[in-house]
Amino acid sequence: MKKKKIAIIGAGKLGCSITEGLLKAEYIEAKNLIITRRKIEHLKKYSELGVQTIDSNSLAIEQSDIIIIAVKPHQIEKLLKTVSGFINSKKILISVVTGVSIEEIRKFIGKNNIDIFRAMPNTAIAMQESMTCIATDIDSKNIDIVTDIFKNLGKTVVIEENLMGAATILAASGIAFILRYIRAATQGGIEIGFSSELAKLITTQTVKGAVALLEKRKEHPEKEIDMVTTPRGVTISGLNEMEHQGFSSSLIKGLITSYEKIDKIAK
Ligand SMILES: NC(=O)c1ccc[n+]([C@@H]2O[C@H](COP(=O)([O-])OP(=O)(O)OC[C@H]3O[C@@H](n4cnc5c(N)ncnc54)[C@H](OP(=O)(O)O)[C@@H]3O)[C@@H](O)[C@H]2O)c1
Repeated sequence: MKKKKIAIIGAGKLGCSITEGLLKAEYIEAKNLIITRRKIEHLKKYSELGVQTIDSNSLAIEQSDIIIIAVKPHQIEKLLKTVSGFINSKKILISVVTGVSIEEIRKFIGKNNIDIFRAMPNTAIAMQESMTCIATDIDSKNIDIVTDIFKNLGKTVVIEENLMGAATILAASGIAFILRYIRAATQGGIEIGFSSELAKLITTQTVKGAVALLEKRKEHPEKEIDMVTTPRGVTISGLNEMEHQGFSSSLIKGLITSYEKIDKIAK
């Protein structure tokens, strides 16, 4: 696999995070990675690492075995129509673009014999800690290659394509939702006496600890909450006050609001 070449078309926030993750994981040699965007002056950091940074998508695609498309949803149609002549059945195409279906991608390329996959990672891919949901509409052994790429960059799960929108909200937007929790807890921590630095350290390590408990003991979150709450105790009082203020409800409503917007932004 290390000999295969990967092109990332649209090296913006996510494309660069994938680049960093692939290099940190030593999944690919820098010279076998080609990343593109129109303003390539922003990619200097990567060219210094040996990554090929170019502004020609067709050249990048022509030279690569695996093509990861990471442009904004409204940019993918024009892009694929322009480069379709360089995409053939020997190449694997992975789109991380939100809200654009495999059927639409196939239509933009204008060919039916291309193995197309959708992947929905999050920005923690730069730290090899992404949760990446993968979908395809074909029965192809290339799914193993696609899964292997993202396994090097965190956890993966293969899902039905109709769940990709939900995956976008829970995993990709989820990073922002969780960070907002951390910011709020840090602000609360300052109110009750800690410096901002210390409040952030305590909050982030506590989040990591909560995740470790769930991963290792595999219990329902509520069971772990029961371990922390004592009758008439301080934790249950705070927790119930948070619920009176709409904690769970606002989170669920926020998720649903984001989810309902997905189809609208892609068009
Ligand atoms: N950020 C996330 O957490 C996340 C997570 C999962 C999925 N996604 C999806 O990933 C995609 C990219 O998101 P992003 O946040 O990384 O956006 P972004 O930072 O705007 O990146 C898009 C990049 O595409 C480049 N681009 C646009 N047109 C191009 C073209 N014709 N040829 C080559 N490059 C082109 C842009 O650079 P130039 O203007 O210089 O060309 C830009 O750097 C979106 O579809 C998003 O929905 C994002």
